[in-house]
Amino acid sequence: MTRILNLPNAQRRAIDVVKEVAVEKNCRPFLVGGPVRDLLLGRSAIDVDLTLEEGSSSLARALAKRVDGRVRSYPQFLTYKITADGFPEIDIATARREKYRKPGALPSVEAGRLTDDLLRRDFSINAIALDLLDGSIHDPTSGERDLNERLIRVLHDRSFVDDPTRIFRAVRLAGRLGFKLAEHTEDLLHKAILDGALTTVSRERLWRELFLAMDEPAAASILAELNTHGAVASLLGRPASKEGVKALETVGQVVAQSDLDRHVMFTGVLLRGGDASPAQLEGSGFSQKRAKSALQIARDTGRVEKALADSSSDRQRFRLFKNVSAELLTIVSAELPHERENVERYEQFKAFKLPLRGNDLEVPAGPHVARALERAREAVFSGEIPPDRAREFARELAIKYLEEKA
Ligand code: CTP
Repeated sequence: MTRILNLPNAQRRAIDVVKEVAVEKNCRPFLVGGPVRDLLLGRSAIDVDLTLEEGSSSLARALAKRVDGRVRSYPQFLTYKITADGFPEIDIATARREKYRKPGALPSVEAGRLTDDLLRRDFSINAIALDLLDGSIHDPTSGERDLNERLIRVLHDRSFVDDPTRIFRAVRLAGRLGFKLAEHTEDLLHKAILDGALTTVSRERLWRELFLAMDEPAAASILAELNTHGAVASLLGRPASKEGVKALETVGQVVAQSDLDRHVMFTGVLLRGGDASPAQLEGSGFSQKRAKSALQIARDTGRVEKALADSSSDRQRFRLFKNVSAELLTIVSAELPHERENVERYEQFKAFKLPLRGNDLEVPAGPHVARALERAREAVFSGEIPPDRAREFARELAIKYLEEKA
């Protein structure tokens, strides 16, 4: 039980209340899956995922009442979710047996014993239960041994075929924890991919898995690994290019320090170095804008980098930068450290304002005014003209543009 004592406050309080209510209701909750794995690894931020053989509904309701929270029930999955102020979300499930009628399809579910519930799971390290009342561990598949040996191991040979999303989960978890796939598990994973297991799952589910990989701190190496195994190709139609794999690392570093759109950036570089098309993004759920940004990274990063090398003035560079997204620009500046200064200068330029308005020019209104003001802003920023020349400069240009149009 010492492991539980080390938990952050909110989680420990949640577990304490669960224990109290469980005693009153005479039921026996087990902490299961990821949280037990993480506790045994000494990690402290855990989800509160509970499983009971009996009484999950009465525990869920009594618990919600005790913490003055709300309970939502999902009868088709035999689960409940409790939310309350000051507590982490608590998930309660009835122990279950699962049957996969068809590879890749969601399983049918029926109530079962705790052991059934552990044996239906993906990997041995996720198939351990901790009895919250007496602190005992239930580990029918030797998950603790695999935790010590730092191995991801499936529980039976059909695991990846029944649920091919586990291919992504295995690589993701291995990358997160610094574990390896057990030899036989790795063979099964390869065989499942070669036999087309990933074609039995909807693109939407595969994208969801890919995005989860992108959310990990070790995303770059996890994505590279998924690519090596052929899992990326099953979604994008081809593996990432060498150039794309190299760029994963760069994006990994960039997104760790910014709030840029990591899904767009990783997707863009995975598609680099070949023809990228909107069809490859089907099922991603990207808005048009985000899809455009990912495709721009895929198609234009190399072109922008080359044009940048050929540019010799702020004016040329700013023209180039104006048409590309912040995400692409960040990748360019991370890949070409010697251009970083120019990119930073462009950021300053974007924020630079002239104390000059259209009316100040005293010319007829129209698009030529905005164009002239923009050109004057650029000229002052780059030192082409002194600030006190700005009005004159802009006015002359506006008249010129107007005359050109006439
Ligand atoms: N699980 C499974 N097969 C899947 C998905 C989930 O067997 N395809 C089981 C695993 O036992 C897992 C548990 O359901 O531990 C909960 O799933 P999830 O919350 O997705 O995973 P966690 O292991 O809790 O991982 P994370 O730390 O990423 O939340």
